[in-house]
Amino acid sequence: MTTTTATERPGAEQWVPAGAGVPELRSAAADCRGCELHRPATQTVFSAGSVTARLALVGEQPGEAEDRAGQPFVGPAGQLLDRALAEAGIDRTETYVTNAVKHFRFTPTPQRRLHQTPDLAHLSACRPWLTAELAVVDPEVVVCLGATAARALFGAAFRVTRQRGMLFARTARSGDAGLVQAGWLMATVHPSAVLRADDRDAAYAGLVADLRTADSALGEHR
Ligand code: URA
Ligand code: SF4
Repeated sequence: MTTTTATERPGAEQWVPAGAGVPELRSAAADCRGCELHRPATQTVFSAGSVTARLALVGEQPGEAEDRAGQPFVGPAGQLLDRALAEAGIDRTETYVTNAVKHFRFTPTPQRRLHQTPDLAHLSACRPWLTAELAVVDPEVVVCLGATAARALFGAAFRVTRQRGMLFARTARSGDAGLVQAGWLMATVHPSAVLRADDRDAAYAGLVADLRTADSALGEHR
């Protein structure tokens, strides 16, 4: 057994049990040491929602509230997402909600833990979990919430500003061979970006419209 230093980044692969369902993946992810982010974080935040969902939502990484609760999208961004989903006519309990990175990355300050965007290395290290869970759930439509999730699923060239709200066939366009099976992939703005937007109403309406588009693609299997 080798020990892992702070600079080593073996990736999650060795912690991902083969042939596992979501509950087994979730409990295995609790012990993941695939990158250094597990050290300062409180716990692994895996997914929530239906494991037979037709619509999956992928965020960036857990935030402050999620790190404490152990559940994705339960803080301010999650509350905004709940509202937007409801307004788009989507029942959140029927969706599968997860993140591209499963540990909260932050910079400690005397006042609070400041969110820090995960690097490409963290996305890569954590990808085996996302690959495994999406393979099991096998949703018809996957929605990336924000640029980081889009980076994880579409690749670095994707631009949320220009390509948000567009449905891409997962087989042809995502460029992430291991992840794609069938159906559609889309990216939209992150709920946190809506909270920070100058024109919050417009940003919120855009999120709702994109979620409606995603919902309308259900059943339109290629
Ligand atoms: N932001 C995310 O991207 N994911 C969460 O779970 C919470 C906030
Ligand atoms: Fe493992 Fe992902 Fe957490 Fe890194 S962020 S330790 S790869 S679960």
